[in-house]
Amino acid sequence: MSWTAPLAFAGCVLCIGMGVVVAESDVRLPGNNQGYEPEQPIHFSHRVHAGELGMDCLACHFAAEQSRHAGIPSLDVCMGCHTHVTSGFDAVLEERDVAKAEGREPRRIVSPELRKLYDAMGLDDDLEPIPGAEAKPIEWVRVHGIADYVYFDHRVHVARDLACEQCHGPVQSMERVRQESDLSMGWCIDCHRASPAEPGAVGMVGAEPKHVSIDCVRCHY
Ligand code: HEC
Ligand code: HEC
Ligand code: HEC
Ligand code: HEC
Ligand code: HEC
Repeated sequence: MSWTAPLAFAGCVLCIGMGVVVAESDVRLPGNNQGYEPEQPIHFSHRVHAGELGMDCLACHFAAEQSRHAGIPSLDVCMGCHTHVTSGFDAVLEERDVAKAEGREPRRIVSPELRKLYDAMGLDDDLEPIPGAEAKPIEWVRVHGIADYVYFDHRVHVARDLACEQCHGPVQSMERVRQESDLSMGWCIDCHRASPAEPGAVGMVGAEPKHVSIDCVRCHY
């Protein structure tokens, strides 16, 4: 295990020098990537979707309740709205005004960012399948990552009603997702030490409530 630390450190130094290369090749480095905020293939805004539109985090990251990983939603989830919403509101309003001035019906506006979504699904501007085009998943760039020798599971944490924000920061105000916490061992342990083992055990009379396990083997195997 010990040789991974210097490796991770060397990786981080390289990462600063080659940010773009790292983002493009989707290399994930263990260790402290706090503040990491890579560009994504589509400009998907959490500020718009989770903030302005008020969507629940679990509407897209429903896997966080059921599995180790919170997961990134498939494009079908996006198409629940983006079969109707083909561009931002501003562009739609602008086209409506222009159409009115020219005395014609407004055209469907497809924004360049949503064009990328339809391209990935092999759809044309009328959202009809393009003959011969193959659907391909969007290659989202991974933001968070902990080393392989650490065991982390969303399910247990979400079941204890820890808000996503407590670990991920104010994602609903982020235009682009950023790693807010340092994801270090100390960060995990500080919260485990401060959390009672049983939900609601804070007010227990007598002995100190037992805190969440900080046994090495809980997180390392
Ligand atoms: C409309 C669907 C949708 C909603 C709602 C949504 N997300 Fe996401 N989330 C995504 C997509 C798509 C990505 C991948 C692209 C990106 O990173 O922006 C993502 C990425 C993330 C990531 C980074 C994953 C990584 O690579 O490490 C985090 C953390 C995250 N979301 C947390 C949240 C939280 C917290 C909320 C609620 C405040 C939320 N999301 C609401 C779709 C959604
Ligand atoms: C609940 C409905 C809903 C879902 C689900 C949804 N979106 Fe959106 N999205 C919207 C609305 C509404 C807007 C326009 C917001 C505005 O103009 O302010 C928008 C805007 C966008 C834009 C910016 C459009 C532009 O060019 O201005 C992108 C890109 C986008 N969404 C991508 C996605 C992706 C990718 C997903 C799936 C992970 C997704 N959306 C899921 C409703 C949704
Ligand atoms: C106790 C802290 C904690 C809480 C609470 C938490 N996360 Fe995470 N999240 C993490 C850590 C740590 C990682 C990196 C895990 C890894 O590399 O396997 C992560 C990774 C992610 C990822 C990217 C990879 C994946 O699929 O796991 C997404 C998306 C995400 N979290 C969304 C959420 C959402 C949405 C919520 C709320 C429902 C949430 N998280 C609650 C700590 C947390
Ligand atoms: C914000 C607080 C918080 C943070 C940060 C946090 N945890 Fe936890 N964790 C908890 C709580 C509370 C539980 C208890 C859940 C339960 O069993 O009811 C828990 C439970 C666990 C468990 C199950 C323990 C058991 O006794 O079975 C593991 C494993 C775990 N966390 C790993 C991690 C790792 C790894 C990290 C850091 C990457 C982390 N946690 C960060 C609050 C946190
Ligand atoms: C609550 C979860 C948790 C517990 C309990 C825990 N660790 Fe860790 N440990 C981590 C995480 C997360 C990392 C990864 C840190 C990083 O990537 O920078 C880590 C990293 C390490 C490393 C790698 C070297 C380094 O500093 O980066 C060693 C060695 C280690 N832990 C040993 C232990 C030992 C020994 C114990 C018991 C006394 C223990 N851990 C308990 C979460 C935990």
